Amino acid sequence: MKQTNIQKSKVKKVIIPAAGWGTRFLPMTKIIPKELVPILNRPSIDLLVDEAINSGIEEIILVISTRKQEIMKYFQPNIPLEEELKSKNKWELLKHVKKTNRDAVIRVVYQYEQLGLAHAILTAARFFKNEPFAVILGDDLIKSKIPVIKQMMNEYDKLGCSIIGVQNVEFDKLNKYGIVKPKNNNEKNNKLFEISGAIEKPSIQKAPSSKAILGRYIFNYSIVKFLEDLDYYNNNSGEINLVDCFDKYLKEEKIYAYEFDGKRYDLGSIEGFAMATIDYSLENKDISHTIKKHIMNLASEIYSETSLLDFNLNKNKGGK
Ligand code: UTP
Repeated sequence: MKQTNIQKSKVKKVIIPAAGWGTRFLPMTKIIPKELVPILNRPSIDLLVDEAINSGIEEIILVISTRKQEIMKYFQPNIPLEEELKSKNKWELLKHVKKTNRDAVIRVVYQYEQLGLAHAILTAARFFKNEPFAVILGDDLIKSKIPVIKQMMNEYDKLGCSIIGVQNVEFDKLNKYGIVKPKNNNEKNNKLFEISGAIEKPSIQKAPSSKAILGRYIFNYSIVKFLEDLDYYNNNSGEINLVDCFDKYLKEEKIYAYEFDGKRYDLGSIEGFAMATIDYSLENKDISHTIKKHIMNLASEIYSETSLLDFNLNKNKGGK
């Protein structure tokens, strides 16, 4: 294996792939991109852009399809709306609207065919010069004190190697994720460990660890060559995955897994969206009081329903 070249450059760019069809959210995604579905009053993609900017990223590249142009519009100024708010002295609202005008740091790259995540990353990364870059996936919204990409950038600054964000997932969900294989099995519980591979959606019995890849990556530019070598059109056995290039890449470079700190919501699923909405409501000072009251009322209703249910079940079993 080649000696890992510690690249001195800092991570300044992030790719946010957002060109997928979003079939799990049909029928809504027939007309509205999944990334524009709000968590309270902000599209979920806006929260990811926050993570990038709060991590010190200077340039954000959104990979979108031609059907999803509305995503870009969200980040561009809406002058008539701003004028309207000004004329009505709605300064607070104007502040919120202006906050979304982040076009200086946001660019769009079109992925014309939806050939999967690896292809989406390649579509943006092939325009980079020899520089490391981060990837944030919209399906994984992560609430944390230190933005997850920042946590990983700190590790990257020390290592200079590609890093994949992971967290433990429940045993029965291992077959839903890409699972990393620790190079040294006795390091698998470390916060940071080198990997010797990763398997996409392994059977639970074959999962090489309990650490799932959860939507955050930092790659050295050297990965681009391996992404280019994947045969995106020869996908008889299903979609070409990002991990499909890892085996070859690992022969030349090291990859580390980093267990990030943060609470993750699976926005790719409807229940994940619902949970994120509840948690963000409870943190929003304007509405948290009302929401808490609502949840407490619901909890007592659920409690009395379930105790009644328990009671009936016990009765049927012959209990008293
Ligand atoms: P998913 O595999 O979750 O696909 O993509 P999806 O299309 O978003 O959703 P479902 O599975 O049909 O419900 C993971 C990420 O990669 C992006 C998606 O937008 C999502 O952020 N992606 C996927 C692309 O950018 N291009 C693709 O060709 C596929």
